[in-house]
Amino acid sequence: MSIEAKKRIDELTDAINYHNYRYYMLEDPVISDFEFDRLIKELAALENTYPQYVRDDSPSKRVGGAVSEKFGQVRHNIPMLSLDNTYSRDEVAEFDAKIKRFLGYPATEEIEYECELKFDGLAVELIYRDGIFVQGSTRGDGVTGEDVTANLKTINTIPLKLQKNIGYIEVRGEVLMDKKGFKRLNEERLKEGSSLFANPRNAASGSIRQLDPEVTSKRNLIMFAYGTGGYSKEIIFETQFEMMNFLRAAGININKNVAVVKGISGAIDFFDGVAKKRESLPFEIDGIVIKVNDLKLQERLGEISKSPRWATAYKFSAKQEVSEITGIEVSVGRTGILTPVAILKPVNIGGVVVKRATLHNQDEINKKNINIGDGVLVERSGDVIPEVVKVISKGGNSGPFKLPELCPCCGSLTVIDGAAHRCMNELSCPCQIKGTIVHFASKRAMDIEGLGEKIVDKLVEKGLIKNVADIYYLKKGDLSGLEGFGEKSEENLFNSIEKSKNISYDRFIYALGIRHVGEHIADLLVKYFGGIEGIKSAGIEELSSRFGIGEEIGKSIFNFFRTGSNTAVIERLFKAGVSPHIVNVSAYAGYGKIAGKSFIFTGGLKDFTRDEAENSVKEMGGIVEKTVKKKLDYVVAGNEPGSKYDKAVKLKLNIINEEEFKELIK
Ligand code: IVH
Repeated sequence: MSIEAKKRIDELTDAINYHNYRYYMLEDPVISDFEFDRLIKELAALENTYPQYVRDDSPSKRVGGAVSEKFGQVRHNIPMLSLDNTYSRDEVAEFDAKIKRFLGYPATEEIEYECELKFDGLAVELIYRDGIFVQGSTRGDGVTGEDVTANLKTINTIPLKLQKNIGYIEVRGEVLMDKKGFKRLNEERLKEGSSLFANPRNAASGSIRQLDPEVTSKRNLIMFAYGTGGYSKEIIFETQFEMMNFLRAAGININKNVAVVKGISGAIDFFDGVAKKRESLPFEIDGIVIKVNDLKLQERLGEISKSPRWATAYKFSAKQEVSEITGIEVSVGRTGILTPVAILKPVNIGGVVVKRATLHNQDEINKKNINIGDGVLVERSGDVIPEVVKVISKGGNSGPFKLPELCPCCGSLTVIDGAAHRCMNELSCPCQIKGTIVHFASKRAMDIEGLGEKIVDKLVEKGLIKNVADIYYLKKGDLSGLEGFGEKSEENLFNSIEKSKNISYDRFIYALGIRHVGEHIADLLVKYFGGIEGIKSAGIEELSSRFGIGEEIGKSIFNFFRTGSNTAVIERLFKAGVSPHIVNVSAYAGYGKIAGKSFIFTGGLKDFTRDEAENSVKEMGGIVEKTVKKKLDYVVAGNEPGSKYDKAVKLKLNIINEEEFKELIK
């Protein structure tokens, strides 16, 4: 049985990897999505029962993976160089002339160049051993990068297994976020109150350097390769173009905009063609890369101060103009972030009159030393909000502008949250209040039927509600004057307000709209800490590490309960009769050893299926984890445990067998 399972796991792993390749690389699937999902499900079920047979190149490794505390360092066998930039035809011509001078060729010689897109993302190196992806790292400083293998494994355009069994190869390329994914991510971040990424490059970089690969997996990243580092001797190619074709045939993602051209005029034509289609490409590029095609010539040309002599980036010139900052406005977004915006003397940049430019945050202002009255260079590229690139001449104000310590909307003290200044008065700040109330009343939160966006707008504008607690202090008649509100609808609303007082604790916590606290985290918080008192008394470290949610979320929860106006609102909610209850408290009471404790299972159990064992833990208020992390309470090891077991031993976790587990849940 077990041998058959292993065989089927192997078959499914190979089949899914092949179909992934057809779908993502060749864009030519040969099976339906439905059939593909069926294969995935079959494999997942088998891997769950036989974790010892899960292969390193299993598609299930694309999601999740262990949460690392910090990335390890990877020294690149061959340094990852950077490129010299050129911005004009003259500069490109000079690049060509220099090459000919260096090689001793006559000026009339036409060098063969290979031209590629210059992707605007994050450089990475992928190592394949015997065709299997074994390690991935960022470029870092070119000599040493960070080990981001688990995160790179979540990217569909990075094959876990190559189509050819190559002994050893280091593939180099760029990880990008496409324009649509970037827009969607920022929309989501705006909703949940996280700071926005300034451009897709920062978003890609932030996504790859996530401590939790599960977050990376949701970011829809792509990878395009453009070269190699070291590789086994048996691999032979003579030109850059052959190298790209070799990589493509091996299953590595190579963008189709690659061309071999004759002479530098050919490269300039390629640039002009790319410039025309730049806007219609689904991802950002910032120019093209021109490379001498012949690898022997590349070797002869070598490098100079960390850039190869044989390649240059021919970049699009950004649209920039000079203007003056006449004022700085600080607005407070729906989620409490303070955003400084420069008010400019109107300036025409590439046909558009620009009057405002984002200054992003205090760090950016400090870095560029920006203040009111300064002469500045302003850039506008594509659809991106114009931004101040640098100060050209300082005005009357020395030093950088300082963001206010008090929220310009409600006057409460702001906190520094990463790069952002944030108003923590989440439950009462007028700039945040409408969004907060709509969320509070929403179906999955307090479920107050009839309290939607339009009504909330009116109630806030009329001054009838200033925070969520005010909902419970509305009086009969308050609403009757409102447009579209009759006696019946008023009565209905009061009924659902009344009904909402009896709510489960996890939904109440979720309803408070604490930044980053979605339904799942709200549920975990209640399981671990009980009610508000428990959560309130936990420190940042405990909140962050208890179930691996990380410091950003831990801090957000901690700060929320340290803001007096928030706790005052919660007290008023309780006073008004809102009484959240822990739904399963009685159920958990007898399960002292399970409730609130975290478990992970590895290997097969005799008397339970994996689902049965996990469900019994969940029913008793315990938490089932999927990845091994430092803070696990119990690792239940059955027959032939898999890699989770080895990891648990390494981390010296509490490992118990099936009998001990049975004893716990008795
Ligand atoms: S070749 C030695 N090709 O540009 C040559 N780089 O400014 C190294 N980049 O770190 C790079 N698209 O991250 C090459 N088609 C392309 C590229 C490309 C984007 C990035 C890469 C590199 C940076 C250098």
